[in-house]
Amino acid sequence: MMKTPITEVQEAHVSVRQYLPQTVPDEMILAILRAARRAPTSSNLQAYSIVVVRDPDTLRRLAELAGNQRHVAETPVFLAWCADLSRVERACKLHNREFVGNTLEMGIVATVDAALTGMSAMTAAESFGLGCVMIGGMRNHPVEVARLLELPPRAYVVFGMCIGWPAERPPQKPRLPESAVIHFERYNGATADEVFEDAAWTTRVSVEFSKPRREHLRAALAQLGLPLE
Ligand SMILES: Cc1cc2nc3c(=O)[nH]c(=O)nc-3n(C[C@H](O)[C@H](O)[C@H](O)COP(=O)(O)O)c2cc1C
Repeated sequence: MMKTPITEVQEAHVSVRQYLPQTVPDEMILAILRAARRAPTSSNLQAYSIVVVRDPDTLRRLAELAGNQRHVAETPVFLAWCADLSRVERACKLHNREFVGNTLEMGIVATVDAALTGMSAMTAAESFGLGCVMIGGMRNHPVEVARLLELPPRAYVVFGMCIGWPAERPPQKPRLPESAVIHFERYNGATADEVFEDAAWTTRVSVEFSKPRREHLRAALAQLGLPLE
């Protein structure tokens, strides 16, 4: 099988939620973020920002807001990945142009920019031997999280990321069969049949996704100046 050091890191990925007490050096975090900032970005807009959090009180509060996720309180470093259109708005104002970025399209652009840089950072961190987990629980209380981190208007935290030296190596979670998710030339729905023979996956998905999730999100993002409508 063809591989590179990068594909080896990617294939070894597992989310890590327990960390050793050792600190992660600032230079390492900066190297990770430097690599992540090279990620491609729509129109080179770079509509994201990252808040690096180490303060234990802030971590405890973020953990609560994420639904009492213990690993958020215990991580040595937490990166809050924001979709951030505030700089775009400011550039428009500077040139006396109206900012019309509060649209679904621009919300997606900023959210995708955050996701791409976030994933690049995770791969970079794992290549240093660090363990990470992304925290979508940041969207449980988007307004409170934005206040706590003093985000400007037109920004919200899409997800966070705990980074630390792994104190565990959980087994890798299974992925769907390759044939179900990869198609050649045309989408082939028949290849998905195998997925539905996996009772564990279908049961979990049907239980979790027959309930509404984060119904408050649209209103919260509108309040933060990013109406995804
Ligand atoms: C956008 C995103 C949000 C996530 N949010 C959380 C979270 O709030 N808490 C958590 O413990 N794991 C979270 N995860 C981790 C997933 O549960 C995990 O990636 C998934 O179960 C697959 O496991 P693996 O990463 O070990 O392969 C999140 C992952 C992603 C990509």
